[in-house]
Amino acid sequence: MTRDGVIKCENITKVYAGGKTALSAVSFTIPAHGIFAIIGRNGAGKTTLARVLSTLLEPSSGQASIDGLDIMKDANRLRERIAVVPQEGRTVAWMTPVQTVSTYLMWRGIGYKESLRKAREAVEQVGMAGHADRLNRTLSGGMKRKVLVAMVLASDAEFIFLDEPSTGLDPISRQELWRLLIELGKDRFVLLTTHYLEEAERVADRIGILDDGKLVAIGSMEELRSRLRHGYSLKVPEGANLPVKEGETIALGNGQVQVLTTRDEALSLSKMLIEAKAQFSVNPVTLDDIFTYMVGAMDAEVAEAKEVEEE
Ligand SMILES: Nc1ncnc2c1ncn2[C@@H]1O[C@H](COP(=O)(O)OP(=O)(O)O)[C@@H](O)[C@H]1O
Ligand SMILES: [Mg+2]
Repeated sequence: MTRDGVIKCENITKVYAGGKTALSAVSFTIPAHGIFAIIGRNGAGKTTLARVLSTLLEPSSGQASIDGLDIMKDANRLRERIAVVPQEGRTVAWMTPVQTVSTYLMWRGIGYKESLRKAREAVEQVGMAGHADRLNRTLSGGMKRKVLVAMVLASDAEFIFLDEPSTGLDPISRQELWRLLIELGKDRFVLLTTHYLEEAERVADRIGILDDGKLVAIGSMEELRSRLRHGYSLKVPEGANLPVKEGETIALGNGQVQVLTTRDEALSLSKMLIEAKAQFSVNPVTLDDIFTYMVGAMDAEVAEAKEVEEE
């Protein structure tokens, strides 16, 4: 892949049979390397966009290309360079991690011996050397997910698509996965979708925010931050009467009020709140703040429910 290759999307629209518009004229151009995270609430269109770009689903209209190859016309050539872990990705219970990865590599056209060697190397790379030859069904949810990551890691695919790779993982496994994703993103393009804003903020070079099928923002964390007028966020319980002059006050609807403001005003308000022994928090704006500002609160309860379902 050329280092100046891009992923280009022009007015991609997807209307499912039944009439649901899952993507509505999505357009963007981003470099075809590094990590691109698509965030959005449940039903926002993340999976649909990932499937369209990875040639698994035809858009209703619009065009897209990866490194100059059209997702429709050049789908076959593109597929050789793409690896996908779908949202519902599962490992086969009666296979071992090494068998799982080597089978995938053979299916991609790599010879038997080479597949086994690469598979073992990748399984070790994801920190599973001690479990390389156990049956998948004896592995924890986090380890099964790592086997799927080992598959794409071992492949020579340049464009990797991971749909909600960390949903349902415990916090430790999630952080281990982040380390692997960052590793993957060093020499490949990784598109991942996620419910976890912290994850996107930690690992992604670029972030796209989808809401109801529309791309409402895209850019690096810095670029997204600059979409907000102020760099600091202060949260206080509702009813705390703050003399805000520079910033703007937003009711979060969860018993809290958020003030987006300058660093100086955040500091002076914090001093007042400390003197008044009031409860509050203050931080430079996070992706969470940006998301809430642009789209509204993330549906945390849906993410929680999904986690339970996964276990
Ligand atoms: N095969 C399908 N047929 C009809 N509607 C679908 C299908 N797949 C997804 N949808 C709908 O399209 C919208 C976007 O879905 P999806 O891309 O899965 O969102 P996300 O991954 O962000 O949760 C949702 O309203 C969903 O119900
Ligand atoms: Mg999805």
